[in-house]
Amino acid sequence: MKIVIPGGTGQVGAILNRALSHAGHEVVVLTRRPTREGEVRWDGETWGPWAEEIDGSDVVINLAGRSVSCRYTPDNLQAMMDSRVQSTEIVGEAIARAARPPRVWLQMSTATIYAHRFDVANDEATGVIGGGEPDVPGYWGYSVEIARAWERAQEMADTPHTRKVALRSAMVMSPDRGGVFDVLSGLARLGLGGPVAGGGQYVSWIHDQDFVRAVEFLIEREDLTGPVNLAAPEPLPQRAFMRTLRSAWGVPVGLPATKWMAEIGAFALRSDTELLLKSRRVVPGRLLDEGFAFAYTGWQEAVGDLVRRRRRGGAQVRSMSGSSGGGA
Ligand SMILES: NC(=O)c1ccc[n+]([C@@H]2O[C@H](COP(=O)([O-])OP(=O)(O)OC[C@H]3O[C@@H](n4cnc5c(N)ncnc54)[C@H](OP(=O)(O)O)[C@@H]3O)[C@@H](O)[C@H]2O)c1
Repeated sequence: MKIVIPGGTGQVGAILNRALSHAGHEVVVLTRRPTREGEVRWDGETWGPWAEEIDGSDVVINLAGRSVSCRYTPDNLQAMMDSRVQSTEIVGEAIARAARPPRVWLQMSTATIYAHRFDVANDEATGVIGGGEPDVPGYWGYSVEIARAWERAQEMADTPHTRKVALRSAMVMSPDRGGVFDVLSGLARLGLGGPVAGGGQYVSWIHDQDFVRAVEFLIEREDLTGPVNLAAPEPLPQRAFMRTLRSAWGVPVGLPATKWMAEIGAFALRSDTELLLKSRRVVPGRLLDEGFAFAYTGWQEAVGDLVRRRRRGGAQVRSMSGSSGGGA
């Protein structure tokens, strides 16, 4: 297949590119700064020759969007919104105008669309969309607004010959340098990976191999449309999540952090506490109902595999078709 990945130069794009190329597909990445073979220039906003890559392709997986790992200032929030909505609109336009449109358009969304909650897990059927929670900072609602507008931009696209799926993904855990697993492992190894603000908030995650396999499953299953949660079936509280990570690295202690300490740490890392404090309790209702089998349902097994691969210095991901991706 020819698979076009707008925004495919980041962490998730690297995981997909590696596995899908290795499985024998032709992968084309749309980027604002092409540097390698297989990369084509676009600006994520306006029409251009890049649209020819989409015409005649089989699959589009749009990942473009300003990184969420930043301070949530008004300017950054606006850039997070605009980059997602505009790039989705222009991808939709390219698909709509294609003489030979792709069969399927997988559009990145996020598990952050669901409400901050501890009591029950959010699946696609019964989950509560966030934004109305009491006792959370007002700007957390804006992250949900971004996610909703992102999904709406895909829904509104007039692409009758292309199946549309929104990927409500949890944090994708891979051993690649600079990814979220790498950052959390770094903190754990420094002895800083303790509970934050009590650690009761849930962490949803998905192992990179399952992420790739779920994407392949959604490409193949012609009957599936709309939002799909990409998260392992067993989210867990942050304190247990970090304890398991620490023990996989052989680190006995993790200093606990209060909310204000987290604020200082997030400020120093130029990140935002919402990423640490929001309870993301999200489960893959539709994937499980449709018969998708996770290779890693529990964090303990997943973390064991990730630490082993990190120690080997490679990222190796097996695609559903059985081939193995190259090292990082
Ligand atoms: N990582 C996760 O665990 C995770 C989980 C859930 C959802 N997501 C979402 O999935 C997407 C991919 O995640 P990622 O971790 O790979 O993100 P990433 O590393 O930040 O990569 C996103 C890509 O988007 C492009 N981009 C950035 N700003 C842009 C703009 N203003 N206009 C057009 N393109 C822009 C960049 O490509 P160029 O600079 O090459 O143009 C960048 O490589 C993101 O939208 C993210 O929010 C990620």
